[in-house]
Amino acid sequence: DLLLEIKGLEELFTVDTAKLKDITEHFISELAKGLSVEGGSIPMNPTWCMSMPTGDETGTFLALDMGGTNLRVCEIILTDQKSEFDIIQSKYRMPEELKTGDADELWEYVADCLQQFIESHHGGEDLEKLCLGFTFSYPATQDYIDHGVLQRWTKGFDISGVEGENVVPMFEAAIAKRGVPIKLTALINDTTGTMIASAYTDTKMKIGCIFGTGCNAAYMEDCGSIPKLAHLNLPADMPMAINCEWGAFDNEHKILPRTKYDIVIDKDSPRPGQQAFEKMIAGLYLGEIFRLVLVDLHDNHKVHIFEGQNIDKLRKAYTLDSSFLSLVEEDPFENLSETGDLFQNKLSIVPNRPELELIRRLTELIGTRAARLSACGVAAIAKKKNYESCHVGADGSVFNKYPHFKQRGAQALREILDWAPKKSAKEEDPIEILAAEDGSGVGAALIAALTLKRVQDGN
Ligand code: BG6
Ligand code: GLC
Repeated sequence: DLLLEIKGLEELFTVDTAKLKDITEHFISELAKGLSVEGGSIPMNPTWCMSMPTGDETGTFLALDMGGTNLRVCEIILTDQKSEFDIIQSKYRMPEELKTGDADELWEYVADCLQQFIESHHGGEDLEKLCLGFTFSYPATQDYIDHGVLQRWTKGFDISGVEGENVVPMFEAAIAKRGVPIKLTALINDTTGTMIASAYTDTKMKIGCIFGTGCNAAYMEDCGSIPKLAHLNLPADMPMAINCEWGAFDNEHKILPRTKYDIVIDKDSPRPGQQAFEKMIAGLYLGEIFRLVLVDLHDNHKVHIFEGQNIDKLRKAYTLDSSFLSLVEEDPFENLSETGDLFQNKLSIVPNRPELELIRRLTELIGTRAARLSACGVAAIAKKKNYESCHVGADGSVFNKYPHFKQRGAQALREILDWAPKKSAKEEDPIEILAAEDGSGVGAALIAALTLKRVQDGN
């Protein structure tokens, strides 16, 4: 019966403590491999962001945040007051068709949004060029901070003519065409932005993470531990923020407990073989994993779920996003009526009570696996850097909105790092993952400010 099916799913999706520890150990060696000359599957990209903020940065900056879901333009004033800033911002939807369109359309759209922003906030003013921090949240090889060759699109993007190219001149050409008074000062990743913005107000912050459409982290490394930069003869103790791009962890499939559903996700994605870790945990994929399991249970298992019902709507790939799973997890278990309504309204399926319970358990399993696996990445960085106690700044829709994600991640960290149980709920864990405040916008402004300072100081 369905209870047996649930048991099977529990076995498939549960990652126990021993496995978490194994994954973490492998993760540590892969982080080091990414920094080596030979390289590994985790890119470990040097970002040329070379200091943490002090809180004394000042100035007015623009930030453009091109994530997976939204495009945000912000103007940030870093004030004379320590660690204080003012921000105005506009959000624009990132149209779906752009994500698989061509490069010109993308840059035209981005430049249009910036132009609109400048016109509505500074229309008619005689502006000097504003310095812009561009948060471009994809893996990029950077030879310096206002340069970035896209290694590959991630998060379902598939725009031709950009991979292998420096994105900065493409962006600048679209801006120049419109005469928008902007100077790109720094190209950054959302994880670096999150780390820097978090460290601006909390000196315990050492790592920045995104748990959203994609999943990734950044931390500060010493140049002496980055063999692939040795040819530049940088001082060994010079700090360098590393954008790990850890979504690519285990692309060679050595350690992650992949299920047949994870294999299908990869095979049907625009970049098969890439982002193995990300595809098991990031928001873009959680709903799809859930959908694939349900279709499989309907079609192929002894006990067919949704017997006799038309599941055509459920057969459509990527029809459910992670917010669908969030709603199911939030539904009071007693009656699961919201879940029933969701299935009826969105999928024209009417689940019975045992099916509702299976659906609920499946969301818990997928959400828990995601949180536990991502904790391995955090634990790996902390262990590599010998951080016994620190804060981790986190942002993204999954971290901020997915029920229990934070607690599940914290629990996994406790297991991996063998912490004694807390004596009271108030007591902090040695390593706490905390919500970053307005990650990328402020982070991009700060990095632009730090870059200008570095240039002025002649470094
Ligand atoms: C936002 C950050 O808050 O979170 C972005 O400003 C980041 O830079 C984004 O890319 C990640 O979340 P999601 O859920 O939109 O992928
Ligand atoms: C993907 C991107 C990475 C980004 C992450 C979170 O993994 O490759 O650059 O940081 O998503 O948005």
